[in-house]
Amino acid sequence: MTQLKSVYPLYLNNKAVQPNTDLEVTDKFTGEVAFRVAQADRATIEEGIAGAVRAAEPMARMAAYERQAVLQHCVDRFKQRFDELAYALCVEAGKPIKDSEGEVGRLIDTFRIAAEESVRMTGEVQPLDISPRAKGYQGIWKRVPIGPCSFISPFNFPLNLAAHKIAPAIAVGCPFVMKPASRTPLGAIIMGEILAETDLPEGAFSILPAHREGADLFTEDDRLKLLSFTGSPGVGWDLKAKAGKKKVVLELGGNAAVIIDADADLDDALERVIFGAFYQSGQSCIGVQRIIIHERIYDRFRDMLVAKTKTLVAGDPKDRATFVGPMISQGEAKRLDGWIQAAIAGGATLLCGGKRDGAMLEATLLENVDRKADAYREEAFGPLALLSRFDDFDAALEEVNDSKFGLQAGIFTRDLFKMFDAWDRLDVGGIVINDVPSYRVDNMPYGGVKDSGLGREGIRFAMEDMTEIRNLVIRRN
Ligand code: SIN
Repeated sequence: MTQLKSVYPLYLNNKAVQPNTDLEVTDKFTGEVAFRVAQADRATIEEGIAGAVRAAEPMARMAAYERQAVLQHCVDRFKQRFDELAYALCVEAGKPIKDSEGEVGRLIDTFRIAAEESVRMTGEVQPLDISPRAKGYQGIWKRVPIGPCSFISPFNFPLNLAAHKIAPAIAVGCPFVMKPASRTPLGAIIMGEILAETDLPEGAFSILPAHREGADLFTEDDRLKLLSFTGSPGVGWDLKAKAGKKKVVLELGGNAAVIIDADADLDDALERVIFGAFYQSGQSCIGVQRIIIHERIYDRFRDMLVAKTKTLVAGDPKDRATFVGPMISQGEAKRLDGWIQAAIAGGATLLCGGKRDGAMLEATLLENVDRKADAYREEAFGPLALLSRFDDFDAALEEVNDSKFGLQAGIFTRDLFKMFDAWDRLDVGGIVINDVPSYRVDNMPYGGVKDSGLGREGIRFAMEDMTEIRNLVIRRN
């Protein structure tokens, strides 16, 4: 049986330090304090940033094979500590154990991809002799690390979304300071413990759980050259406004839609839509929130969805049978419960679910939801999905686009022409055919448009953000 410690340090300039045990982290199912973690104050964050500034040059000088060795070490150690990492996630995030194991698998993939990419960072030779005045000139460009980076990671994928910042930073040679989510800091802390076993230059990384005091430094300190934030849209856009001259990458939320066209394989679509809507209690930025179903199959698919949703096992995330665990907090569950009740009061029909007990909210399906309702317009970030019907594919595309968000969309169709049409017209960062918008592989470009964010993650794309192009012009005669 995996055990967690009762106290964890923070990581300051590559070293574990235990200035306090101020941060209480609860088991999200029982609500009891599971362990305590050190919390950084303003002076500690200052020290971490100063360390990252000092480490910028030695990090930039590391050879590609050395950076790769650090990433490979992490892959090996994550594999060795697989069960502990999954259990930590299950406790601190309330993520069902099978989903937690899935996330550790993705963490390993993410670092493995970064290890591979770290030795492939190339540039380009560019002929410049495009006109008489440039005759005899040639250009070559390469990528150089942008410098110290600031990372703020969210509670819903405490390991893998932190990894999407840490791994590319190491791959390109950028030092970083990271503020993990206060409700789920342990995943990043264990990554710190593993990174501390490597030869990264002193100051290469600091992992600093922090509450309020000093947290503005992660956004506002001008010595940091890039801010990469994953979290809620309101917070993300606000941080961008305060980020000064640094480059900003925002991975924010959405109210993702999936279209089920009349020719879809309904049994297959059912499995995938249930997963996309309700895995980890819908707490994914690309969780299925809107299910747009062709008129001809609407009644049948609705009945299938309702029947399947009613069979989902809810309860203790440590139990292997559990599919729906708690939301991250009672407050979040109450907020979404309020949206569901308001939608019903506004004319929506409750098809199943809709009851709450503390942080546990039942997997809920609604139909006939007013498009002005919060449940429709805002990001649910919980176990709620809304059904609507269409009879014309164009109207379905318009409904997907009827959102201030644009992260990913899914379409179940066998029609290639509709696929290409959707690819042209949907205002989102990615379209998934014959699967849910919730589908992600960790090497693909991932990110959104509109309120859903700025820039792309997916290792190679994050590596581009974490580097600058440095050009060399040569005059040969
Ligand atoms: C997210 O919630 O933004 C990430 C989803 C994922 O990585 O699967």
